[in-house]
Amino acid sequence: MTKLSVAVVGVGHLGQHHARIAASAPQAVLTVVVDPDPVRGPEIAAKFGAPWVATLEEALPRVDAVQIAAPTGFHHALGLQALKAGKHVLMEKPLAATLEEGVALLAALAVARATNPGLVAQVGHLERFNPAVTALRERGFKPRFLEAVRVSPFPARSLEVDVVMDVMIHDLDLLRALVGRPVIDVEAVGVPVLTPYADLVNARLKFEGGAFATVTASRVARKKERTLRAFGDREYASLDFAAQKLELLRLVMGPDGPQVHPETASIEEGEPLRLEIEAFHAACLGLGTDGVTWDEGQEAMGVADQVQKAVARSLAEMSRV
Ligand SMILES: NC(=O)c1ccc[n+]([C@@H]2O[C@H](COP(=O)([O-])OP(=O)(O)OC[C@H]3O[C@@H](n4cnc5c(N)ncnc54)[C@H](O)[C@@H]3O)[C@@H](O)[C@H]2O)c1
Repeated sequence: MTKLSVAVVGVGHLGQHHARIAASAPQAVLTVVVDPDPVRGPEIAAKFGAPWVATLEEALPRVDAVQIAAPTGFHHALGLQALKAGKHVLMEKPLAATLEEGVALLAALAVARATNPGLVAQVGHLERFNPAVTALRERGFKPRFLEAVRVSPFPARSLEVDVVMDVMIHDLDLLRALVGRPVIDVEAVGVPVLTPYADLVNARLKFEGGAFATVTASRVARKKERTLRAFGDREYASLDFAAQKLELLRLVMGPDGPQVHPETASIEEGEPLRLEIEAFHAACLGLGTDGVTWDEGQEAMGVADQVQKAVARSLAEMSRV
């Protein structure tokens, strides 16, 4: 089998894991590592047995596909460059730093696909590949109300963006995928606590078709929690992303009347990032179709933008009283 030749672009906190996974992936070869940092780049390249280059331009002639894990502010420029060279792209989330940049990336993708219809462009919304999420989706669960919580202690990274673009966007994409309908209304409140940007946000989303969700994201929590509760018709689900655990509770008729029947789903654990990257490789080789599209990535950005605007409105109100 011909393996996919891959460059990992940006090998910081997350990109090092892209490099590790690409280097041991069954259907790909880590051909080159790209990072402008002359210490970090060669260090990670050597660790995973690939050569290092400082710029994407130097890497493009050698590869079929790029996995971009550079800071979000560079996604737009790097994505355009890769598409222009006709390469498949896995872009870390969020797709871009602004909605306008996302639109430009989608336009460039349409142009590139006019000559190369098989070009793959995916976004790294890795919770879609969490085995507990897959188990929930396989059960055909139809949620009417969802409650997502993603909170953690203060990090030393990604402080140039608010908690919506950095953290909540995972759930904004996932909730949309689980409900299967677009978001039609957004309310949100949030506050800056330790940075100039909102560090703690609570949003309420209304979906076409009537489903609702509340989403909380915080980077000023004492402990890490990443959970989802979903309520449907006579059933509800409780999901722990980190533990990859899914509990389902269903109303069943017992001998003494209706009873709630708990079931812990049996889940084969897997690293979501590995599953996402290997699905990308398979798609590039024409062997699969799984992955979050750039259109979906842009949709999540659109909802994130509405949440940010609602937070700004609530802060403006707060400062008036
Ligand atoms: N999917 C997830 O769960 C998840 C988790 C963390 C970060 N991310 C995303 O990954 C991206 C990187 O985040 P991070 O925390 O790893 O950042 P980071 O700052 O730790 O690492 C970024 C790396 O990119 C390099 N870089 C800078 N400019 C570059 C360029 N022009 N070309 C190539 N490399 C460049 C830097 O030198 C650095 O090594 C962000 O978009 C972030 O949102 C996603």
